[in-house]
Amino acid sequence: MKAHIILAHPERKSFNGHLADTTNAHLTSLGWETSLSDLYGMRFDPCEAARHYPKRAGEDRFHAQTEQRFSADNGHIPADVAEEMERVLASDLLVVHFPLWWFGMPAILKGWMDRVFVYGSMYRSQMRYDAGRCVGKRMLACVTTGASEESCSFNGRESDTRMLMWPILFPFRYLGFDVLTPEIFHGIGGVAFVEGHEDGLSAMDQYTTRWQDQLSGLAERSSVPYNCDSEFDDAKRLLPGAPSHSPFIAHRPTPLWE
Ligand SMILES: Cc1cc2nc3c(=O)[nH]c(=O)nc-3n(C[C@H](O)[C@H](O)[C@H](O)COP(=O)(O)O)c2cc1C
Repeated sequence: MKAHIILAHPERKSFNGHLADTTNAHLTSLGWETSLSDLYGMRFDPCEAARHYPKRAGEDRFHAQTEQRFSADNGHIPADVAEEMERVLASDLLVVHFPLWWFGMPAILKGWMDRVFVYGSMYRSQMRYDAGRCVGKRMLACVTTGASEESCSFNGRESDTRMLMWPILFPFRYLGFDVLTPEIFHGIGGVAFVEGHEDGLSAMDQYTTRWQDQLSGLAERSSVPYNCDSEFDDAKRLLPGAPSHSPFIAHRPTPLWE
């Protein structure tokens, strides 16, 4: 079994970097073959732009999906993107490590998705959701927040982190992944990763053990529930009687503002 690990953090010695290394070492010890993309370390360019496409479908104006599809159809997907795509497609499990930044993912990770989820190759209208290219693969996000667990709960001042995770995870469902419930480490803001702890089981060791236990229990981990394709009508609206798994796809609008 192959696992590909994504790390979206500018500091390799950060808590997130430590968790990514833990993933690498622990999955290897469990018999997985692993690879790691340290997005900052490899200076991945997250900005989708015309400069990535020397051969263009349309010269007048840059249309990202048109150029992605043209590059996929003609075998000239940008080299950095092709390499990432291959690593994702070769893996059975994708583990994505990132800190919550401004209630979302760091821009480098969003840009990685913008570029690597190539239209025409990773998805197209007949190849998404239940028919996605990544059906059969699992995806696990491991996220850290600076704010406490209490303030990130459903009635907390920082808003519910689980709700914030929904749109972050949905692109993976779009591609067909089985999205595992994310692991969220709260209250990490004040913890600096320092090697060497002489005072017994330190906070860092406890976090490490917690994460290793989660990785050991992957087979039993539950998935984020999503509606299957047959639960939508021809206009792609949720059928009456179909289950609603979140306020994002529901039978009634969630009251937010007039
Ligand atoms: C640009 C930026 C935005 C942040 N936004 C949030 C936020 O929205 N919610 C939160 O709980 N913490 C936020 N934080 C704190 C980080 O999530 C926290 O420092 C990180 O999870 C700790 O992990 P690390 O030591 O690996 O960086 C932010 C930090 C930065 C640098």
